[in-house]
Amino acid sequence: MPQFINITCATSSNASIQQELTASLLKPAASLSPKFFYDALGSKLFEAITLLDEYYPTRTEASIFEAHNAHIARAVADSGIKTACLIDLGAGNCAKAAELMPFLSPRQYVPVDISVDFMREAADKLQTRFPALDIVGVGMDFSSSLTLPDAVQSHDRVFFYPGSSLGNFSPPDALRFLQQTADSQQGKASGLLLGIDLVKDAAVLQAAYDDAVGVTAAFNKNVLLHANALLGADFDLRQWRHVALFNLQDSRIEMHLEAITNTTVRWAGHERSFAAGERIHTENSYKYTLDGMSSLLKQAGFSHVQHWTDAQGWFGVFWASK
Ligand code: AVI
Repeated sequence: MPQFINITCATSSNASIQQELTASLLKPAASLSPKFFYDALGSKLFEAITLLDEYYPTRTEASIFEAHNAHIARAVADSGIKTACLIDLGAGNCAKAAELMPFLSPRQYVPVDISVDFMREAADKLQTRFPALDIVGVGMDFSSSLTLPDAVQSHDRVFFYPGSSLGNFSPPDALRFLQQTADSQQGKASGLLLGIDLVKDAAVLQAAYDDAVGVTAAFNKNVLLHANALLGADFDLRQWRHVALFNLQDSRIEMHLEAITNTTVRWAGHERSFAAGERIHTENSYKYTLDGMSSLLKQAGFSHVQHWTDAQGWFGVFWASK
C-alpha cells in the first residue's frame, strides 16, 4: 500500500490566508495569487481547460513524451541513474507519471502535492497497476522548500515537473526553484525532467487563454468565488469580465479580471472600490524559448541539458542533470 506523509506547513492557516488575500486586494494594483484558482471547482475547471482545442500545451507535451519516451529514458540512464526515484512535483491525478513508468521503471514513486487527499485515490490506483512500486505520497508546498522526508530515496532521483507549471513563476522565482532542485542533488546521480511552454504566435497563445466556450473565463472568475468563501467577501461575478493578453515584452500571458462597472467589494472590516475598467491581476504564464530555458537551467547549476520538442516547436521537454 502507498504511504502518505503530510508536511503541509502550519502557516497556511485560515488567518494567514485571509491576511494574504486582504493585502493583495488592498494594493493599489490589486492581485490574487493563482494558487487560489484550485479549489474543488477550480481544479475541475482546469481539467476541462486541458481538454479544450485551443489549450494545446497538455496534448502537445503528451505527444512529445509519446514520441520520445525511449530517448528520454536513455538520457536518464546515461546520466548514471539506476534504481530511480521518480519525484512528481504537483502530481495531482498522477496520470503523466503513470505514462512514464514503463520507460523509467522507477523503484520508488513520490507524488508531491499541496493536498495529500487529492493524490490518495490516484496513488492507490497506480499501486494496483504497479504492485512492486514503492509509493510515498508527500503533502507539501514544494514552491517554498524541496526538503523531502527521510522515507524518500536520497539518490538516483528524477524530479518530474511537467505541464509548464514553472511558467507560472516569475523568472527570478523560476531560477530560485531550479537552483533548489539542482542543489538538492548534492552530487548524487539525479536530474530534472521538465515540461515548458514555448513562445509562439500571439494569436495561438491568446486563444489558449481565452477559449470560445468560456472555460478559462469561468476558471479565472471562480477565483472570486473562492475569495468569497475564504474571506466572507461579496464579489458579484456578474460585475467582472475575464481578460487574457500576451505581454510581448515580458514574454508572458497575463490573466486579469476587469470590473465592468464601478463596484465596491466588502469583507470582514475591509472594503475596496474598483472603477469600471480597473483590473485584478490573477496569473502570469511565462513562455520561454528553447535557448532561454537551456540557459536558465545552466544558470541554476545543471551542466548537461537536452531537450525534445514537437514538429511545430510549441512545447519543450527538458532533461537536465549536474
Ligand atoms: C497550471 N498552468 C501551467 C496553467 C498555464 O497554462 O499557465 C494554468 C492556466 N491558466 C489558464 N489556463 C491554464
